[in-house]
Amino acid sequence: MESVIVAIDGPSGTGKSSTSKAVAAKLGLSYLDTGAQYRAITWWMLTNGVDTDDPAAVASAAGKPVIVSGTDPNHPTITVDGLDAAGPIRTQEVTSQVSAVSAVPEVRTLITGLQRSIAAAAAGGIVVEGRDIGTTVLPDADLKIFLTASPEARAARRSGEVKGSDVAATREALIKRDAADSSRKTSPLAKAGDAVEVDTTELTLQQVIECVVTLVEEKRAAG
Ligand code: DC
Repeated sequence: MESVIVAIDGPSGTGKSSTSKAVAAKLGLSYLDTGAQYRAITWWMLTNGVDTDDPAAVASAAGKPVIVSGTDPNHPTITVDGLDAAGPIRTQEVTSQVSAVSAVPEVRTLITGLQRSIAAAAAGGIVVEGRDIGTTVLPDADLKIFLTASPEARAARRSGEVKGSDVAATREALIKRDAADSSRKTSPLAKAGDAVEVDTTELTLQQVIECVVTLVEEKRAAG
């Protein structure tokens, strides 16, 4: 089968990760979670005493951590300097600082380069999920999907994932992070002009997966 590159962008809580992983597994493609890479570099900054609110400090340290992503959709991994970072990158501390770190242009240049080399090395094709994949990282992707959902639906999904969190607080945090990710100068969260928008508010995860799989299969058949 032809190699295919699929870019899946959108804000958090739209089902991006679950959809991307399932689509990649179903179609035998590799999978890359680019948010995990931004979280990993943020975690490294926090554990190495870099002030994440100081863009100059973040920029000068950006090249130090070695971030490695495993791209098997059934077992995605992420390490920083050889250490398993899958757990620590999901803490509240990292989540609250990741927008600031990922807005620093030097960080984006490095991580974007890493993402492009991973996509180029994925022989059978890859599903890459993030915020700027269709617009900046892989503008020549074979298929671009932009997932959306109402803030209420997104907050409900996210608080379902995080034990003990309340929906109203999650909704506020989510809206704040989206605003920061959408308004930053360097490659903000945005829908590419040639992306297919899928509103997941009223859809089950299974329906979203089927919709994206169909879009990929149509693309492969056409091209
Ligand atoms: O998908 P996520 O919530 O794990 O992403 C964490 C943060 O990383 C998100 O708030 C913005 C940033 N990010 C980014 O700037 N560009 C990407 N391609 C992916 C994530």
